[in-house]
Amino acid sequence: MGILKVARIGHPAIRRGARALTDEELRSDALQRLIDDMVDTMKEYEGVGLAAPQVHLELRLAVIEVPAGDGREGVPLTVLVNPELERVGKEIVDGWEGCLSIPDLRGITPRAKRVRVKALDRELKPLTIETAGFFARVLQHECDHLDGRVYMDRMRDLSSLTYLQELERYGPSDDE
Ligand code: NI
Repeated sequence: MGILKVARIGHPAIRRGARALTDEELRSDALQRLIDDMVDTMKEYEGVGLAAPQVHLELRLAVIEVPAGDGREGVPLTVLVNPELERVGKEIVDGWEGCLSIPDLRGITPRAKRVRVKALDRELKPLTIETAGFFARVLQHECDHLDGRVYMDRMRDLSSLTYLQELERYGPSDDE
């Protein structure tokens, strides 16, 4: 079990973007260890997703796992190697996001309602996910990290930004 150090905004790794893994990297034991460590790190910090640039690596790799609860549907552990994301349809939905690289803050972020992601899984089998709702949101958030973007870049209006503690104490602002 390896907990990795998570880069916060301001660290160049967050803005650098990422490159596809090479064939040699795909077949390496190091990739399997890295995936295990990223999963451990995501769970340790109670994130629902983690992308490689957040652990200082310029690689197109992300892990996602959403525990069910709070009226939210869970997403089983999903490993995305070299993912490519496309929007499906034009519908945009607002929802709360946070990020392990921007600790303690939450903000309302517009995202495509439905997306399709093509990637390899950790066994290097091709994977296609088409989904809507919170899973689609997390997929967009993590794929953005691979292009050096964070959720705040996508916010239309920064007035919803709140610390998590205040959000829990005072609830969402009226404009949600
Ligand atoms: Ni994030």
